[in-house]
Amino acid sequence: MTRKTYDQLRSSRWFAPDDQRSSGHRSRTMQMGYDPADWEEKPVIAIINTWSDAQPCHAHFKDRVEWVKRGILQAGGFPVELPAMSLSESWVKPTTMLYRNMLAMETEELLRSHPVDGAVLMGGCDKTTPALIMGAISMGLPFVFLPAGPMLRGNYAGKYLGSGTDMFKYWDERRAGTITKEEWMGMEAGIARSYGHCMTMGTASTMTAIAEAMGLSLPGASSIPAADANHQRMSTQCGRRAVEMVWEDLTPEKIITPVAVENAVTVAMATGCSTNAIIHLIAMARRAGIPLELDDLDRIGRTTPVLANIRPSGTQYLMEDFFYAGGIRALMKQLGDKLDPSAITVTGRPLVEGLEDVKIFNDDVIRPLSNPVYHEGSLAVLKGNLCPDGAVIKPAACDPKFHKHVGPALVADSYPEIKKIIDDPDYPMTPDTVLVLRNAGPQGGPGMPEWGMIPMPKALLKLGLRDMVRLSDARMSGTSFGACVLHIAPESFVGGPLALLKTGDLVELDIPARRLQMLVSDEELAQRREDWVAPTPHYERGYGLMFSKHIEQADKGCDFDFLRTEHGRPVDEPVIY
Ligand code: FES
Repeated sequence: MTRKTYDQLRSSRWFAPDDQRSSGHRSRTMQMGYDPADWEEKPVIAIINTWSDAQPCHAHFKDRVEWVKRGILQAGGFPVELPAMSLSESWVKPTTMLYRNMLAMETEELLRSHPVDGAVLMGGCDKTTPALIMGAISMGLPFVFLPAGPMLRGNYAGKYLGSGTDMFKYWDERRAGTITKEEWMGMEAGIARSYGHCMTMGTASTMTAIAEAMGLSLPGASSIPAADANHQRMSTQCGRRAVEMVWEDLTPEKIITPVAVENAVTVAMATGCSTNAIIHLIAMARRAGIPLELDDLDRIGRTTPVLANIRPSGTQYLMEDFFYAGGIRALMKQLGDKLDPSAITVTGRPLVEGLEDVKIFNDDVIRPLSNPVYHEGSLAVLKGNLCPDGAVIKPAACDPKFHKHVGPALVADSYPEIKKIIDDPDYPMTPDTVLVLRNAGPQGGPGMPEWGMIPMPKALLKLGLRDMVRLSDARMSGTSFGACVLHIAPESFVGGPLALLKTGDLVELDIPARRLQMLVSDEELAQRREDWVAPTPHYERGYGLMFSKHIEQADKGCDFDFLRTEHGRPVDEPVIY
């Protein structure tokens, strides 16, 4: 392997020349108390830190960044912390998805505009992982992704509680009147009791697993609980490795190959895979110039069973149990030859290297292929006259009786409208009703909010029912469950066929046949198309206007059209005077 020399590093162009501009760079670095020995002949490693007071999942990053710096210093690098927006899933409105691409752009431009040779990316709360990685891929510098790690198991009255999943489940009970306010307050306090991201196999855990399976994290990093001392050690190792990667010129394009992406999809399917992960996987792959399609995900899903017995696909265990059972490396071992051995990671070594020595400490948590949680990957891609460009559902997380279903649509055009329906205990509907929320896609939401797991209507809760078929062009939280068809594309706000559906129309869902149809004649649909009036756009200025002009549909990964790789690799080199 040829190693880079110092004068080949980007940062040397800022610091090395004997001219007035470089003198200013050196002088202003010394203004902060640094000495030339801090940067001379050393790679500058950016630490993109998504810590903020508004990000509970990354509360430990203020401490962990010091461990990353320690690793960079140990390996002979110069650490530079660059804060980026923290995108808290629990605080940001209307949805963090509105801002995923903004963080991706921020990451790319932070790296481009500063004297940086490589990076450690610190993220974990849902959108932060794809956003940081998308931006860093487009910039093309060597980087390591450091996952925040899951929080400890939730606990109330001696029972485990899982982020999101149990909140949704028990909220239906609260609405059904079976849980007191006092008990509910106890759950609120017990469900998130340490820093770290959600500890179900929701979007955060799926995305960090995907990052590791794609080769972008150190082996085993994504399973370490945030509050475990292994996380400090992993942080330091990331710092050290980022320095070495710069000298080795181990850029993302050498790691993110088509086989690395297929491995990432395979691992995602075996984890139980948040539906959100589909959108992010497509967006990340496309940034790397790999045209991943929904059909690829369905193809890999059909032959990859769910092996991680973690909620919401599993019924009992959480990410802490997953770590103790052997973590993501144990899951990769269980996958055996389903992983392509030619893919490499940030170590420069094959992803599968060392798996033969990995131990599986609990094969009920991390199941063998012979005893899966679910016989296929947890996601199915549907097509039909309601979703010509696709829709997704998690068959493993819904009542099997809905895998084939025909029922009458009950359509709402907005969240307030659906809220009225679900909160009215006497609203006319039957267990067969297909509840529909539209205008909740990328443009309609705006930002494709996580409204897709529409809460069960009180009218059905009082009959003792806890699941029904629901359709929308929204997303749902990765911790959600139920017979929810999501990501319907094209979305209704831009005139997708969902816009033409009327209350009372029969809807057919057939998961084994991968079909979603409205049983309405083509002539009738053509007439409705003529009568359709486009809704008023949400934005007239600012980021929102840019978002609505350039956001792509869910099946394309919801990236901005002008950031696609076919527009050419970004120009890495700023002009330095
Ligand atoms: Fe941050 Fe769930 S709220 S990962």
